[in-house]
Amino acid sequence: MVQLTNSWTTLAAVLSLFVASCQADTTVTVTTTTGPAIPKTLWGQSFEDVNHSGDGGLYAELLRNRAFQQVTPNTPEALNFWHSINGAELNVIADPVPVSKALPNSLQVKIPTGRFGLTGFGNEGYNGGLKVEKGVTYTASFYYRFPTASSFRGTVAVGYQTTSGLTLGSTSATISGAQTTWLQVSVTFTPAQSAFNNNNYFTIVFDSTAAAGQTVHFAMLSLFPPTYRSRVNGLRPDLATALAEMQPGFLRFPGGRNLEGNTIDTRWQWNNTVGKLVDRPGRVGTWGYVNTDGLGLLEFLTLCEDLVTTPIMGVWAGFSLDGHSVSEQDLFPYIQQAIDQINFAIAPTSNPFGLLRSQLGHSAPFALTYIEIGNEEFFSSDTYASRWRFFTTVLSQNFPQLRFIATSYSNNPVLAPDPTHWDVHSFKTPGWFAQNSFFYDGLARNGTMYLEGEYAAVSNDPIQRHDRLPYPTMKGAASEAAYMTGLERNSDIVLGSSYSPLLNRIGDTEITPNLISFDISTVYRSTSFYTQMLFSTNRGVSLMTSTLPNPSGTIFWTITRNSASQYVFKIVNVAADLENVTFKLPVSVSAGTLIVLQGDPEASNTPETPGLVVPVTTSYSLSGAKNTFVYAAPPYSVSILRLL
Ligand SMILES: *[C@@H]1O[C@H](CO)[C@@H](O)[C@H](O)[C@H]1NC(C)=O
Ligand SMILES: *[C@@H]1O[C@H](CO)[C@@H](O)[C@H](O)[C@H]1NC(C)=O
Ligand SMILES: *[C@@H]1O[C@H](CO)[C@@H](O)[C@H](O)[C@H]1NC(C)=O
Ligand SMILES: *[C@@H]1O[C@H](CO)[C@@H](O)[C@H](O)[C@H]1NC(C)=O
Repeated sequence: MVQLTNSWTTLAAVLSLFVASCQADTTVTVTTTTGPAIPKTLWGQSFEDVNHSGDGGLYAELLRNRAFQQVTPNTPEALNFWHSINGAELNVIADPVPVSKALPNSLQVKIPTGRFGLTGFGNEGYNGGLKVEKGVTYTASFYYRFPTASSFRGTVAVGYQTTSGLTLGSTSATISGAQTTWLQVSVTFTPAQSAFNNNNYFTIVFDSTAAAGQTVHFAMLSLFPPTYRSRVNGLRPDLATALAEMQPGFLRFPGGRNLEGNTIDTRWQWNNTVGKLVDRPGRVGTWGYVNTDGLGLLEFLTLCEDLVTTPIMGVWAGFSLDGHSVSEQDLFPYIQQAIDQINFAIAPTSNPFGLLRSQLGHSAPFALTYIEIGNEEFFSSDTYASRWRFFTTVLSQNFPQLRFIATSYSNNPVLAPDPTHWDVHSFKTPGWFAQNSFFYDGLARNGTMYLEGEYAAVSNDPIQRHDRLPYPTMKGAASEAAYMTGLERNSDIVLGSSYSPLLNRIGDTEITPNLISFDISTVYRSTSFYTQMLFSTNRGVSLMTSTLPNPSGTIFWTITRNSASQYVFKIVNVAADLENVTFKLPVSVSAGTLIVLQGDPEASNTPETPGLVVPVTTSYSLSGAKNTFVYAAPPYSVSILRLL
């Protein structure tokens, strides 16, 4: 009996303790101990041309199939996105005198006889039609030649037409039948009126009577709106601005699978992506469309400078997605190509590739430290060990100052030399992210650094293949934030992290969810975008040591101090209930700023509900200097509290 009573008493005590701990506020004691400095690279971005995130997206070029790259001449497909205007006969031909070695094809245009008005051709862009804005100055260019000299002297109108043939603004360019070699023509024009809708083509049209019977070849046509920072061959301003808003700590490029290519021949090759546009052949990309490579290596490096961010540059590592690995004895030319790629970025002008960079307008070497060897090599782990060994051995001999990142999972296969950096990718459920925020706490502090180069809460379904989220949700964004508190706490071994994919052109979506979606005129920032932005713009310079969260709990935090000496609290609640968190500080604080992102767990920012979940900023006051305060973390929320 006694024993029984005793055990009942014990059980009751345990129960009451359990209940008390459930009801008690979470208490976080912050010590005076400053943890490690937080690397500037911690919150970054990973770019890949997937479903027109580059061509038709970030890269501002408006024409689609602008240079007839990688198409089969004399087929209807080669003419995709081009339209005849008023009976002109169009055909893509293998030009006997190509405009360049890289661009063998040109557009043959035959102006028929017996027509009236304007005759020629148009391009529909990436959206089945182009947006035309009044007061915007567009820059158009094209090459032309007459296959046989003709007495024709006249002009073409270069500009916009509605699909029904109404002119919306154009300029004229002189065309001469004596021109039998290629000549580039560049014009600008500024529509005086916006179009009512986007059913418009970019057009080049002749006076039908004057040009009747003429045949003219066109190549490498281009149309640019104003670009981010007014760069020539630049980026779409609204998308580049969204990237800049996140103040990325690094930019990883040129992509994962799109670097690898579907075949060895169609791998990404840096030297095909630099120089004049007419010298870029383009390639059949990994995601089902031709990459123009207009957004090339120099453009990526320039973007890093414009965003004041650290490049993490991928080099092709001898494996393509069709399963082919280059064998050891055949690797050297590919390693040489990687050496040349790196030299293009960092060599002095005494090196031929450094000189090339200088000739292309950037004489100073770019600040580049990190080179990623391949992508997701756990899919080809049987051959990665030898490829890793060859690449890193030769590259480190050439560039002892650089760091090389391995891309399979931790030592599977065992890699030698032992990687100093690993790129880990995690596409999981919100629950996984919430429950794995201590993933890095358990790893050895032995000098090995980690990059979460691609991650996202992709599905509520653990099998993941099913039920992919079309857009990030609030629950997903909060769970990623919970995980990110772990990345921040472990930023002594976590070099950086980036959500992936970064950009998604609505209508061409292949992979979901994406950080930023966009259409022809609008940018949609997701819940996860705001998580990334809030963490990055509140990075802090050093970590403060504090009580650790419960790894299997629902409330997570980190405390850092920023350059203004403010305490920066990142508080994440992944549960459906509000939670009070008591913070005890070694010093008194009184006031500051609170930014809260919160919403229904399945809420998403979509084209239908673009601003459903956005951060709300308020001032926050403790009514007097206090070293203890309670913060009520709302359900499914990410809070940033900066206090001084
Ligand atoms: C790029 O380099 C590769 C091999 O290094 C070469 O085969 C290819 O022709 C080069 N491309 C151009 C456009 O020069
Ligand atoms: C450091 O620890 C990691 C993870 O345990 C291990 O894979 C790696 O080989 C270690 N590196 C060194 C240099 O000991
Ligand atoms: C991805 O983009 C390509 C090229 O536009 C398109 O053919 C494909 O259908 C897209 N994928 C999906 C799933 O929409
Ligand atoms: C949080 O604290 C407030 C104010 O003390 C209290 O009213 C509320 O019940 C608490 N909520 C929870 C879930 O503990």
